[in-house]
Amino acid sequence: MSYALITGGSKGIGKAIAYYLAEKKINLLLVARSESLLKEVSIALRNNFRIDVKYLCVDLAGENAAEIIFEWVRTQNVTVNILINNAGYGLSGGFEKYSASSHAEMMHVNMVSLVKLTSLFLPMLKQQLRSYILNIASNAAYQAVPYLGTYAASKSFVVSFSRALQYELRKTNVSVTCVSPGGANTDFGTRANIGRRAIKAGEKFNMEPDEVAAIAVKAMFKKRKEVVVGFVNRIGAFLVWLTPKGLSERVAAKLYE
Ligand SMILES: NC(=O)c1ccc[n+]([C@@H]2O[C@H](COP(=O)([O-])OP(=O)(O)OC[C@H]3O[C@@H](n4cnc5c(N)ncnc54)[C@H](OP(=O)(O)O)[C@@H]3O)[C@@H](O)[C@H]2O)c1
Repeated sequence: MSYALITGGSKGIGKAIAYYLAEKKINLLLVARSESLLKEVSIALRNNFRIDVKYLCVDLAGENAAEIIFEWVRTQNVTVNILINNAGYGLSGGFEKYSASSHAEMMHVNMVSLVKLTSLFLPMLKQQLRSYILNIASNAAYQAVPYLGTYAASKSFVVSFSRALQYELRKTNVSVTCVSPGGANTDFGTRANIGRRAIKAGEKFNMEPDEVAAIAVKAMFKKRKEVVVGFVNRIGAFLVWLTPKGLSERVAAKLYE
């Protein structure tokens, strides 16, 4: 049986993606840290959609997290034909506010585990008739964001890596899609410690996780290379491209300082 593996499938955008795929009767493998949330979501999905759902508690900041996930999948005797690298988080405030290991842990979740999971699962994905990789980046990927610098840079990495891999795999059965949401109503802001000014600025434009999930999954099945979610965020990315870098960085700094 084929499964979709979703990192961070226990809440927010990842949970909404899980529900969207469950409606399509796709079996799921969910990965996150909180066992209670994973259990709750898995039971609800099994009961509501009559699909198989398995979960694994793992911290993607851990050195061997990707290997642990891959081994777990192998012992379950299942195959993965959809890999969704969704888990990620930010750290807002000045760079010096966080320790070196805090920055490194975030980069491990947002980049290293994403690349390692892709590398480990690619041979399995290639063995299926049709396979998909969906990487969740952010609209922060499209410029340097002072006071959210490491996060924004990690998401620029996700966009760049995804596009390059998409090109390399373009003649194979594996498509690679990178989706960049803007603000969404999830726990992201709380974990990132986003300040009041940025929260207030986002209030009018924030999207619901299920809207983001629907756009992301549709883009994945259409084999789109790169999608910025939402009209306002697309205009934002275009304006950033037009504007001198110093100006867009000053505007972003005012939001996140
Ligand atoms: N919401 C936004 O405004 C926004 C905007 C742009 C991009 N994004 C991106 O969208 C993706 C999903 O974020 P979200 O908004 O849905 O945030 P969220 O509500 O905080 O959900 C994050 C998910 O990732 C899991 N996760 C976090 N750290 C983990 C770790 N170290 N190991 C394993 N799992 C971990 C969380 O579960 P546990 O905490 O239990 O581990 C949860 O399932 C992220 O990549 C984020 O960067 C979000």
